[in-house]
Amino acid sequence: MIPEFFEFFNPTKVIYEAGVVKDLKPELDVIGITRYFVISDRAIHGLGLVKKVTDGLESAGIEITGMYLEVTQDAVLENVKLCAEAIKASGAEGIVAVGGGSVIDTAKAANILFSEGGDLVEDYSGANMLTRPLKPFIAIPTTAGTGSEVTKVAVIYDTENKEKLAFPDKYLLPNLAVLDPELALSLPPQLTAATGMDALTHAIEAYVGIEASPISDAFAVGAIELIMKNLVAATEHGDDIEARGAMLIAATMAGISFSHSMCGCVHGMAHATGAHFRVPHGVANGILLPYGMEYNFEEIKEKLARLAPAMGVETAGLTEDESAKKAIDAVKELIDSLNRLGALPKRLRDAGVPEDGLEIIAEGAVNDGTSFYNPREVDAEEILPYIQKAY
Ligand SMILES: [Fe+2]
Repeated sequence: MIPEFFEFFNPTKVIYEAGVVKDLKPELDVIGITRYFVISDRAIHGLGLVKKVTDGLESAGIEITGMYLEVTQDAVLENVKLCAEAIKASGAEGIVAVGGGSVIDTAKAANILFSEGGDLVEDYSGANMLTRPLKPFIAIPTTAGTGSEVTKVAVIYDTENKEKLAFPDKYLLPNLAVLDPELALSLPPQLTAATGMDALTHAIEAYVGIEASPISDAFAVGAIELIMKNLVAATEHGDDIEARGAMLIAATMAGISFSHSMCGCVHGMAHATGAHFRVPHGVANGILLPYGMEYNFEEIKEKLARLAPAMGVETAGLTEDESAKKAIDAVKELIDSLNRLGALPKRLRDAGVPEDGLEIIAEGAVNDGTSFYNPREVDAEEILPYIQKAY
């Protein structure tokens, strides 16, 4: 179905090549500045990935004015502040983020303070608070998951209020996203599986979401096909550069899709699970995805039936209901495969969620911003049984 109105805006240039971080000069020349500040975390730095990038930048004539490596599992407010101060003090003209979603989101939010000043929560809470482009920003993902390299949102955790704050704004879209599968080769199986399930959740929620358009659908379907074919291989054989590359591309496509069509109740539940019980975002999504699809079943079965072939389901002779159920089964089978590899817990209890926490997750899903975009109204009492199934 074609919506009466939609818009599609994707100005981030995406480049893909194994080893491309060694040769970014042509792209850097287009952006035109020469002094960059690098943001990453200790783990990625320890793996030598930051050095690969900074070597590449320096050989292209770039001066690295400083680095901030203290990004934690979640992007948190305190780190955004410290990071922005370090960038300002360094005299940088632009930012390079090397890492997963937390690094890229920290960098996006820090770029607001670096470019515009002020206080993130007091001055920029709400959507589209920026009025002009920020300083140049290059995102180099080392995980295939959040798609933050092509999305307009930064999600920052407020540790004091146990709340995830979303800052959606078109000016947060990076100037350049660099997809280099060589940077993903050392990602451990657990992170590969969890971030891959995050990307799959983006694509599926975007596809069935109420804001979907034919353009966001195309990116979602492309992402889903690549993930269903490559996530197990990338998890099981970390050095499979083709599977790594396919997953990086898939995460970016899923990011473009959900940046336009938004996410739904799976993300709502996952945000609450992460905020209250510190379950990593991708793990929470991976566990909750099939149950969120079941919660929405009546509203999305026609779309799920259409999606089934992209998920590897043979739909000839099946009714719409049967095809849609098989699409959910395909997700469950993928989760089973990842679970057998020891890479993904299947139940909330195995991820450290206490049984008396399930109602908190249901309430959290209702209050999460994603509930506005879910195909079925998110009601705490009605969604609770599905969270219990995931327990
Ligand atoms: Fe996500």
